[in-house]
Amino acid sequence: MKKVLVTGGAGFIGSHTCVELAAAGFEPVIVDDLRNSQERAIDGIGRIMGRKPSVHRIDCCDAGAMRRMLATEGPIHGAIHFAADKAVGESVNDPLKYYHNNIGSLVLLLRLMKEHGTQRIVFSSSCTVYGQPEKLPVTESAPDRNAMSPYGFTKIACEQMLRDTTSSDPALKAVLLRYFNPVGAHPSAHIGELPLGVPNNLVPFVTQTAAGLRKQLTVFGTDYDTPDGSCIRDYIHVVDLAKAHVRALEWMEGEGASSCEVFNIGTGKGNSVLEVINAFTGETGAPLPYVIGPRRAGDTTAVYADTTK
Ligand code: UD1
Repeated sequence: MKKVLVTGGAGFIGSHTCVELAAAGFEPVIVDDLRNSQERAIDGIGRIMGRKPSVHRIDCCDAGAMRRMLATEGPIHGAIHFAADKAVGESVNDPLKYYHNNIGSLVLLLRLMKEHGTQRIVFSSSCTVYGQPEKLPVTESAPDRNAMSPYGFTKIACEQMLRDTTSSDPALKAVLLRYFNPVGAHPSAHIGELPLGVPNNLVPFVTQTAAGLRKQLTVFGTDYDTPDGSCIRDYIHVVDLAKAHVRALEWMEGEGASSCEVFNIGTGKGNSVLEVINAFTGETGAPLPYVIGPRRAGDTTAVYADTTK
């Protein structure tokens, strides 16, 4: 079986991708130090796969540990690089953490891939690279904006690093997936979204409030220029997003794949924060106490994907 290195494989998108890789006949090799995920995500992956996945609990900025991991695993068909910090607010207060972890880990991974003869990489990018697009839905050719946070800048910088390395090394191929807002969980419920501490993202905050773990949800602003005043995002099911990674790997093996290609991964449909809340309470019947609060710094008014490509 072709081994695929999955950095951040115990995280929300990583865990769902491991399961889809296994279903498609690949062997996921997880590298994760569980700094923002839990052991039980790995148990859940194993339960769905029907066998224990290969797991290395190491920091992917640790060159020695990463080299030893590769020596143990042998040939690796491709890598999917999820491991990164992703709290926008924290990145403003502690930018060096983001530059070190998000950019440093990709520099190291690309170096080690070259040493090891691994020639395919799928990178977790984000619609954050668009900032507030002038035209919606946003296409891949929309210009990158000035990053709205150090986190956003790390995604722009990593995309550029992959363009530069693929053009300098004809053997290397990369696919950059610009995620919109992933939500949901595997239908088995063995894996889902389990951030440590207080969630930054909307849907885990919604589910934890409904489950009684949080007192109430705050809607960050209803004075935006949108039909109901709350921000609009493109919410995509995490299993659909996970499958996109498998397709990206397969695409790189196909004839005529360019050396570095970027794809939006969204549904093409925008929904407001209030619509998400109403949809959740409508489906579950669970009470979801919420208050309207001020805008959150750095939020864009509306963003959803053009999915044509
Ligand atoms: C943000 C980043 C995105 C990043 C992602 C990863 C921006 C503009 N976007 O996505 O680049 O990849 O996080 O974590 O920085 N909301 C509430 N109450 C809450 C939480 C969120 O009203 O308690 C609202 C937000 O204002 C936003 C929407 O819900 O309008 C979605 O927020 P969130 O889930 O945090 O995702 P993004 O901000 O879209």
